[in-house]
Amino acid sequence: MNDTPIRPQPQPGIDKIAPYVPGRSDVPAGVKLVKLSANESPLGASPKAVEASRAMADKIHVYPEGSSRELRQALGEVHSIDPDRIVCGFGSDDLLHLLAQVYLGEGDQAVMSQYGFNVYPIITRGASAEIIMAPETDYCADVDALLAAVTPRTKVVFLANPNNPTGTYLSDAEVRRLHAGLRPDILFVLDNAYAEYVTADDFTVGIDLVDAAENVVMVRTFSKMGIAGERVGWI
Ligand SMILES: Cc1ncc(COP(=O)(O)O)c(C=O)c1O
Repeated sequence: MNDTPIRPQPQPGIDKIAPYVPGRSDVPAGVKLVKLSANESPLGASPKAVEASRAMADKIHVYPEGSSRELRQALGEVHSIDPDRIVCGFGSDDLLHLLAQVYLGEGDQAVMSQYGFNVYPIITRGASAEIIMAPETDYCADVDALLAAVTPRTKVVFLANPNNPTGTYLSDAEVRRLHAGLRPDILFVLDNAYAEYVTADDFTVGIDLVDAAENVVMVRTFSKMGIAGERVGWI
């Protein structure tokens, strides 16, 4: 007799999710660590951000305005984007989960880089879709390998640019080559979480690509610039 109790079962992919393993922080004594992946900024938040947060302290009993109208307006002005095309979330993590939920399901595949951001496999499994990893070259995403990994079942391609944890990036030309090789029905999620740290001339964020194509989402966050605790991301 089978005495396993009947109980609610999660969606098929959930049990296959490997837990997120945060980066290690054990370094030799005397070495000062700046662990950007966990947002332990040695500088703390901008005093202006701290002041703005304090100014809102007596309003925390009220729900925030659901469509983030003011924030989208401000982001639109700073980045020259139509605010109607921006969606804000509770950190970009929230929005990545949402994208997976909306665009992936059982039988679908999501392509990602071998040492890419660890959340992409988690959200892919969470949507009961299949993870397809493309090998990297010198710990950098490899456009040819990513394109070779695409199949008729591919629904989404995730790319963190620059990448966490490797810190490598693809040039604007390489990102465009990757996008140009994707079918128009594949969603290209270009995660520029660390864009604010890049000074290289051959790097750009995905705004022009989003403008030019129907299948590109640019992911951004306020976390890496020092206000991770506020949980603000946008796409
Ligand atoms: C590449 C990348 N994308 C997205 C995120 C999510 O950040 P948040 O949810 O704080 O916006 C992280 C956080 O480590 C990241 O490294």
